[in-house]
Amino acid sequence: MPTIADLGGLEILDSRGRPTVLARCTLASGAVGSASVPSGASTGRAEALELRDGDPERYRGLGCRKAVSHLRGELREALKGQTFEHQCELDRALIALDGTDGKARLGANAILAASLAFARAAAEGNSPLYRHLAEAFGHEPITLPRPTVNLFSGGKHAGGQVDIQDVLLIPEAATTMDEALATVYDIYQHAAERAGERYGVRALVADEGGLAPPFPTAEAMIEEALEAISAAGYTPGEEVALAVDVASSHFFQGGLYRLGEEALEAQGMIERLLGWLDAYPIRSIEDGLAEDDWDHWPELRERVGGRALVLGDDLLCSNPRRVDRALKTGATDALLLKVNQIGTLTEADRALKLARSAGWAVTVSARSGETEDDWLADLATGWDGDFIKIGSLTRSERLAKYNRLRAIEEETGFALARWHRDGNP
Ligand code: PGA
Ligand code: ZN
Repeated sequence: MPTIADLGGLEILDSRGRPTVLARCTLASGAVGSASVPSGASTGRAEALELRDGDPERYRGLGCRKAVSHLRGELREALKGQTFEHQCELDRALIALDGTDGKARLGANAILAASLAFARAAAEGNSPLYRHLAEAFGHEPITLPRPTVNLFSGGKHAGGQVDIQDVLLIPEAATTMDEALATVYDIYQHAAERAGERYGVRALVADEGGLAPPFPTAEAMIEEALEAISAAGYTPGEEVALAVDVASSHFFQGGLYRLGEEALEAQGMIERLLGWLDAYPIRSIEDGLAEDDWDHWPELRERVGGRALVLGDDLLCSNPRRVDRALKTGATDALLLKVNQIGTLTEADRALKLARSAGWAVTVSARSGETEDDWLADLATGWDGDFIKIGSLTRSERLAKYNRLRAIEEETGFALARWHRDGNP
């Protein structure tokens, strides 16, 4: 019976050097858990509020002292001495203490850090975090999430040199995490060498560790990914396929999709995406349309017709209400789950279960601003994610999660998940 004996917080820096929040939770049993939260750059408008200090004299307003002071003050006072049999009881208490719809008072960064630190403390000494998270929320994982790994970056993560945000590799033939990562490493090295030869920017990487040469068009970025796969000796579409995060909310202005030199209406954007599906082995299209373009998402999904996953990130914001709307309107068939978009484990789990109830695929995702914390690997495994999206195989905030997945693989012997639209054996 976990009773909270103490709660603390610390402002730490994320992978972009911006402040973020770490919470530390001590239980009466003596168990201690700490966890830190990530932060996005290409955020969805419907995300829960990340509380920032707004003081332009310090970290250009991005300080997290207020959020930390809520952990050390109000939340500590309210939770100290309280017993929570289940994670959802704590999460409910956190939501009630905040009292707003989008965690706007105490901050989703403070609240999620507390939610995660408690989970870690409750698992401490009992079971590995992935198993604790599985049991606490009634999941029965038998596989590891298949990595979708950022190869090339654009959009807000790479100075906007190409409009679309990520081209990712899906090592489809790999059956183990070990094999998947070795495959991706090979391709990444070839891509880096080729970028060096062609653009002279071998070493430059974007926020998630993806290469960011100045491609002239989105198509050039996708085609170069296919070339790199071939150069590394793999067959595109057979051994290794692609996913794209179009992140189109971020180039949707005045009702038009401003892709390269063009300004496309929704119909034109849908045609463009369908053209990519015809030409390239793309298995998943994330945010192909903008976050508030609800009218056109069902058409996109229908016309994609199951050829690729229609994955909602900014559209859904891991929010059960938005997932429910997408479910009722047929807007998507896959959920990108970013726990900090909603702010507690319990609400994120609700979004995931809703998605699962409709037979959707689930990609558990990191943010572009990350810390060295590795809870995401445990969460994605424990909650039986089909895919995990962490970033590239560079930058230690990414590798912390990949390395944790390797450790979980070693411990469990789980093979990689293999997504099938009609059931996921
Ligand atoms: P973000 O990007 O963390 O900057 O929001 C990740 C994504 O869009 O998937
Ligand atoms: Zn995205």
